[in-house]
Amino acid sequence: MGLWQGLSKIRVRLAVGFAAAFLGMALFGALSYSYFLGMERKLVFLSQADGMVNMVLEARRYEKNYFLYRHDQDYSLALDYLDRYEAMLANDREHLVRGHGQAAIAGLQKLSADYRRQFIWVREHLNGDAGVARMDQAVTRLRASGKELISRLEVLARAERQGITDLLREYRPLLVAFLALLAGLGGGLAYALIARLIRPLQTIEAATEVVAHGDYQTLPRPTHRDEIGSLVNAFNRMVSQLRRNNEQVIQTEKLTALGTLTSGVAHELNNPLNNISTSCQILLEELDRDVDEYHRELLAAIDQQVAKARDIVSSLLEFSRQREFRLRPENLRTVVRESLKLIRGEVPAGIQTRLLVPEGIQVQMDKAHMVQALLNLAMNAVQAMGEEGVLTITARLLAQTRRVELVVEDTGPGIPAEVLPRIFDPFFTTKEVGAGTGLGLSIVYGVMERHHGRVEAESRPGRGARFIITLPMDDERS
Ligand SMILES: Nc1ncnc2c1ncn2[C@@H]1O[C@H](COP(=O)(O)OP(=O)(O)OP(=O)(O)O)[C@@H](O)[C@H]1O
Ligand SMILES: [Mg+2]
Repeated sequence: MGLWQGLSKIRVRLAVGFAAAFLGMALFGALSYSYFLGMERKLVFLSQADGMVNMVLEARRYEKNYFLYRHDQDYSLALDYLDRYEAMLANDREHLVRGHGQAAIAGLQKLSADYRRQFIWVREHLNGDAGVARMDQAVTRLRASGKELISRLEVLARAERQGITDLLREYRPLLVAFLALLAGLGGGLAYALIARLIRPLQTIEAATEVVAHGDYQTLPRPTHRDEIGSLVNAFNRMVSQLRRNNEQVIQTEKLTALGTLTSGVAHELNNPLNNISTSCQILLEELDRDVDEYHRELLAAIDQQVAKARDIVSSLLEFSRQREFRLRPENLRTVVRESLKLIRGEVPAGIQTRLLVPEGIQVQMDKAHMVQALLNLAMNAVQAMGEEGVLTITARLLAQTRRVELVVEDTGPGIPAEVLPRIFDPFFTTKEVGAGTGLGLSIVYGVMERHHGRVEAESRPGRGARFIITLPMDDERS
């Protein structure tokens, strides 16, 4: 199965869609995770930077207190906080250099060293030995260093905060892109589900409803070669089969109803016809010497007409299946040949018969009934062709369905399309009154049905008629 063909299958599409969505989510999850790790690290550094600012602020608070009250404790606490600040700076140095540059960090280190040195100097000369002017100058410088240190640390903390904002800003388009991707995939999947799955299923559901009400409508040929396409094809095959089965049921019902009626009538007619025939024969024999030619002819005509009437009655009885029926394995070729032999006398010289039935096809059949059916088909063909034409009888094995196909075809005028649906109806005939009873094909139909077979007619007007019979294969023998 090629890639493209594979993608036309709905289940493959859904699987690919879901896999893509899953992959997208996994990728987005991993990216988000790394962003949040970065964010966490930045937050730690930010709190560290804030911590450093606070340490220096504390140092400066104790510096102020020391100058106010001259407690040595304040002095050592101030230097203590400065130590802590320097320890923090040393600890984060690598990160700080990376983020703010070597020079800035060296500057911070130098400032705090200056501050410490100046603070120590001022304390050592508080006794006044350096002179007032010099002392004032040193204190001013000390305060300036402290202030500068704080303001630079605040700049640094602000930069760290900015780093977090930048990271968030970077993350936002990623989030938007991912949401768009997710929406697109969701839309695609929804389309695949609705347009290619749910909607066609609704159509099939509606069509099933229609079929259930007895209207055997097929669906339009599917345009996609996916599961729904196969389903529609299967549905159409089912509907065609149902339609044919239904036609068969109707035909069978017609035959059964008429069969009951005609068998009753035929039985009732049989006895009086026999009586008339017998009486007529007796009269003919007994009056033979005395009666004149004219009356004898009249009696002979009565006898002939009665014989014809009895023929009709016997075909009515045949039609209503009154005869014994027994299936036996028979050689198909032999049976067809015997049937043809029976009509030889009625086939004009211009009609050629071709027998294309292979030797060795065995079929379970009631021979008398089958001969009757084949006779009816052959007679119809001969009557349709008139003076010349070709009657062909072909047979072949359909191994796949384990059936035998027998085709009777002629080169006559064919059957008009408007007549075709009715030819198997009992008493349907296009022949003149008296020429045909219209029972021939309905007998064929009934006989094939009793053999668990079926008969269908095909015809293109002007190109003859074709009767296709299918019968079950005789499994044991053929
Ligand atoms: N081979 C054929 N070619 C053309 N039309 C045919 C052929 N076979 C049957 N038909 C048509 O089908 C009709 C019905 O055939 P069917 O054998 O049932 O009755 P019939 O031949 O008219 O009368 P019957 O067989 O009782 O003498 C015929 O009247 C004819 O119109
Ligand atoms: Mg006929």
